[in-house]
Amino acid sequence: MNLTCYNKILGILSILLLMTGPLVGQPRQVINFNAGWWFKLDSSQHHANGRNGEGWRFLDLPHDWSIEMPFKEHSPAGSGAAYLDGGVGWYEKSFVLADTDRTQRIFIAFEGVYENSEVWINGHFLGKRPNGYIGFEYELSSYLFWDGRQNRLSVKVDNNKQPNSRFYSGSGIYRDVQLLIRNPISIATNSTYIKPIQLNAKNAIVNLSLDIEHLRKESKTISVRTQLLSPKGQVVASQQTVLTALKKGIHPINQQITIDNPVLWDIDNPAQYKAKVQIVAEGRIVDELETKFGLRNFSFDQQQGFILNGKRLKIRGVCLHSDLGALGMAFNRSAALRQLRTMKAMGVNGIRTSHNPAAPAFLDLCDSLGFIVMSETFDVWKGQKNPFDYHLYWDQWYKRDFADHVKRDRNHPALFIWCLGNEAQEQWHSKSDGTAIPLALAAIVDSLDGTRPTTIANNELSKNNPVLMSTAVDLVGYNYNHKKWASFPQDHPGKKFIVTESTSALESRGQYDLVPYDSVRMWPERWDIPFNGGNSDKGISAYDNVYTPWGSDHHTSLWLMEQYDHIAGMYVWTGFDYLGEPTPYTWPARSSYFGIVDLAGFPKDVYYLYQSVWTEKPVLHLLPHWNWKQGDKVNVVVYFSQADRVELYCNGRKIGEQTKDPQRYDLVFKAVDFEPGTLEVISYRGGEKVLSKMIRTAAKPYRVKLVTENPTINTANKELAFVHAYIVDDSDTLVPDAAHEIEFTVEGEGAAIVATDNGNTTDLQRFQSSSRKAFHGKALAIVASKNKGKLVITAKSQGLMADKIQIAAN
Ligand code: GAL
Repeated sequence: MNLTCYNKILGILSILLLMTGPLVGQPRQVINFNAGWWFKLDSSQHHANGRNGEGWRFLDLPHDWSIEMPFKEHSPAGSGAAYLDGGVGWYEKSFVLADTDRTQRIFIAFEGVYENSEVWINGHFLGKRPNGYIGFEYELSSYLFWDGRQNRLSVKVDNNKQPNSRFYSGSGIYRDVQLLIRNPISIATNSTYIKPIQLNAKNAIVNLSLDIEHLRKESKTISVRTQLLSPKGQVVASQQTVLTALKKGIHPINQQITIDNPVLWDIDNPAQYKAKVQIVAEGRIVDELETKFGLRNFSFDQQQGFILNGKRLKIRGVCLHSDLGALGMAFNRSAALRQLRTMKAMGVNGIRTSHNPAAPAFLDLCDSLGFIVMSETFDVWKGQKNPFDYHLYWDQWYKRDFADHVKRDRNHPALFIWCLGNEAQEQWHSKSDGTAIPLALAAIVDSLDGTRPTTIANNELSKNNPVLMSTAVDLVGYNYNHKKWASFPQDHPGKKFIVTESTSALESRGQYDLVPYDSVRMWPERWDIPFNGGNSDKGISAYDNVYTPWGSDHHTSLWLMEQYDHIAGMYVWTGFDYLGEPTPYTWPARSSYFGIVDLAGFPKDVYYLYQSVWTEKPVLHLLPHWNWKQGDKVNVVVYFSQADRVELYCNGRKIGEQTKDPQRYDLVFKAVDFEPGTLEVISYRGGEKVLSKMIRTAAKPYRVKLVTENPTINTANKELAFVHAYIVDDSDTLVPDAAHEIEFTVEGEGAAIVATDNGNTTDLQRFQSSSRKAFHGKALAIVASKNKGKLVITAKSQGLMADKIQIAAN
């Protein structure tokens, strides 16, 4: 069965599901509405009254059309958006509703559409939403057909005006869409807020508030029944509020509920409670909604930094953009989970969702994996950074967008800090806006939450910056400027401090320049002068000695932030490479060099530096590879932990040993003479061997070797398999400079290679291509399957032995 045919069946199935929908008076139904949309890129015609013309495709959401585009040197989107075009796209979906739902209210909810979406139902205009990251919904009830006729939802997405972002945004309906069927007496969207108002070892008191929307003409007696479920799923508290003769209108409800022996949410034990609220009218449950929440005590302190549940905790965070590498912006839970697990294994305990609201499922993952999230809303306020960015919509939309963001996310236990903006232009140019905007945004947080501190990410640190000096925010946020971290208590007496963004060091995975170890390179030399230097292949050495003038190498910022107790923590720019912003280069470089992990998800060497400092796991990692020319002098760097001494052996011969430098996390054996064979490092603690690690000189490329991160995938959850391909020699050693073209295929009904990648920032092959060159010996294939069954993935490369691997699609 081909894909189109399959999608059509999925579409029909979702219509059937709707037809068998809920009975009158039943609680809400949340129907995933991702399957079966028509799509066309078209800026010339209007399709709100029904699609016309050729060129429509049938597809499932989430969808990002920009990631399907060829990279174009002169794309108006520019380097910031990875040289991938925007444009105007139309989406259309038809559906039939069951007559039994006629008395219900019907909504369509979008979690994210980039950008300027306009929505119509049966030709009736519902509204426009410029912001590309915040979720929104429209009520369809008055315009629907109930007589078996098809209803037609039309969505125009206008991402044509470019550039409108400093980083890759994608284009289209790139997050989930839901159809909500709600009773005329039901809980208003995002009105539920479970606010802890007291918490000690014995008990917790939470205030649960929500709005009941009562649209029936007659007055009703309504009860609100709440049950709180413990992390283990047991009912631990309940409450009922009865409202008699409730009139048509919106009615706020408050319940204060006590939980005995509360279980705290923590990064190592992210225990979540659940509030199950039922609205009962005339003896029937007319609405039911479950909301997860967490109980935790936390504070920020001028001297001690961040304190969680009574213990000091350094926030060891990374910034992440919302793109998922080769998948573009099209949200996929398993791809986000992969990113977060990779970060967790490195010792990361904090995520900054830079610079916009994240997908709701991303925050759910942070809740359940245990991260300290700094949630950010804006990269731009009123002052522009790009000609067509959010400044165009600021005045009209910021209050609504920000309030919607706070209301949507305030129940997430992982969320600890609201970051109101990133490096806003108002830092530099506008005394009045720079004072007024933080006040206005902080007032919104206070009115809708009031349990979490606010901050703003500043890169201009003079006292003339009204944003930095704002009394509206609780934490002073510095981007970069590591040389000023130590003196913060003197520079801002009485204030609390967080490093909202740090480092911005640069590297390409697996690439090493043999320059003297102490040579430090600042690329570009200055942010405002075009960069003409660098390497001819536009690669950057991964020795952690190349960085931007506003940042530092990884070691420097890491060391500093661990030294000073008054620094609550930092969010390193960035955990993963992302699309766009290929600083210091431009075309053909099209993605970032900042990541600790490359775009394909392969860790760079500095990953192990952090792991050695941020985890309890014993670490021993050495770099670079061991394929050099006779006569080369190679700096050998070791990242290690839980050891006080390291010995280095070449071909079994001891060539040096070093004890740990109390001022550094790493150590380096400078200018080691290259000799083909083996290079081994052994770590010791108190004379006892801790770990050893050997690398060897690779011989000729011999075969492709496949390894999967996921032996099984769940098809219902749209899980993806991430399959690594390595070019190895006949003794299984990675060939570090191999750049062979690898062709991936997958057998299995409904299976597909959805994307490939290699982490090379200059690879202009489209991500959807099933063939991909290895980059420093490695490539990645991302595999999906619509059907259950056995998948066989094959990787072939000319002149090399092929490999096959199996995955079970369940
Ligand atoms: C920061 C900015 C980030 C990114 C980074 C690159 O100033 O906040 O979005 O551009 O620089 O170093």
